[in-house]
Amino acid sequence: MKIYFAPMEGVTDGILRQAHARIFGGIDVYCLPFHKLNQTLSLLTREKRDISPEENEGLDILPQALTRDPEQLSAWLYYVSECGYACADLNIGCPSPTVTKRGRGSGMLRDPDGLRSFMDRVFSNTLPVSLSVKTRIGYDSAEEWPGILDILADYPLAHVAIHLRTMREQYTGSTHPEAFELALQRGVSHPVWNGDLRTAEDVSEIRERFPAVEAVMIGRGLLADPALARRIRGGPEASREELWTWYTTLYEGWRERFDATIALGRIKKLMEWPGEGDIRKKRLLRRAMDIEECVRAVVGD
Ligand SMILES: Cc1cc2nc3c(=O)[nH]c(=O)nc-3n(C[C@H](O)[C@H](O)[C@H](O)COP(=O)(O)O)c2cc1C
Repeated sequence: MKIYFAPMEGVTDGILRQAHARIFGGIDVYCLPFHKLNQTLSLLTREKRDISPEENEGLDILPQALTRDPEQLSAWLYYVSECGYACADLNIGCPSPTVTKRGRGSGMLRDPDGLRSFMDRVFSNTLPVSLSVKTRIGYDSAEEWPGILDILADYPLAHVAIHLRTMREQYTGSTHPEAFELALQRGVSHPVWNGDLRTAEDVSEIRERFPAVEAVMIGRGLLADPALARRIRGGPEASREELWTWYTTLYEGWRERFDATIALGRIKKLMEWPGEGDIRKKRLLRRAMDIEECVRAVVGD
């Protein structure tokens, strides 16, 4: 079974991807957070760095775009191809109001006719790389899902990663496993389960319920337990030593790239995941003045 590391803007940059692959592994494909496309087709410096082959040496990556303009997407796909990659992803799932109010991300799910004509235009030309999508199962309600699937099933997508929630549901509340079943039944290309996989047992349950599942995509579960993919493959859990190496490597990488204050802020945000709900750990982390104190608060000595 293939395991994708989900894209997480502001978290899963090249420093994290490289450190993760080196220390824990178990991931087949690291997904890049979205490039927000615009009319001038200019990318931010950080977006260019994030997709560059140097930043991703030795990794299989999947770049991602956020746009509702087929011409912008086509031009970007050529850029992805020039960078040397074979596949790219379109984000039609982002629930952020700043994105959806412009009809992008999951805003595209709100307008099925618009989504179909977008896809028609994209696939009317031969694409330089294969295209996948990352979607949610509706904007307001899961009742929209069969209609969305009818559209997605009509195009030769490399895969369809499905965060099994609607836009309204954001990131909480239970996922909708029956929507995954429907995706399998409707013959959409290679559906990928995404949402709330936190333990190796969660993945075993999915595989038992859906023996046809070929791939899963994991986001927050890997922030909470960076050894999760390795454990899913039968490997050991993260040792204390590995966790020390993980956090200090990330801190050092971010300190060199940004500065000490930004690096400490980023690492504290990341370290809230393993201690989710643990108020004492959270308080210790908030008070920590340097990386050693942070790691001690979360991992122990
Ligand atoms: C901080 C954060 C940033 C995210 N950024 C992106 C993004 O750039 N592109 C995207 O498709 N999804 C993004 N997501 C959604 C995740 O990729 C994933 O679909 C979601 O967290 C559900 O999976 P999980 O339960 O395994 O975390 C983001 C999620 C979080 C928490």
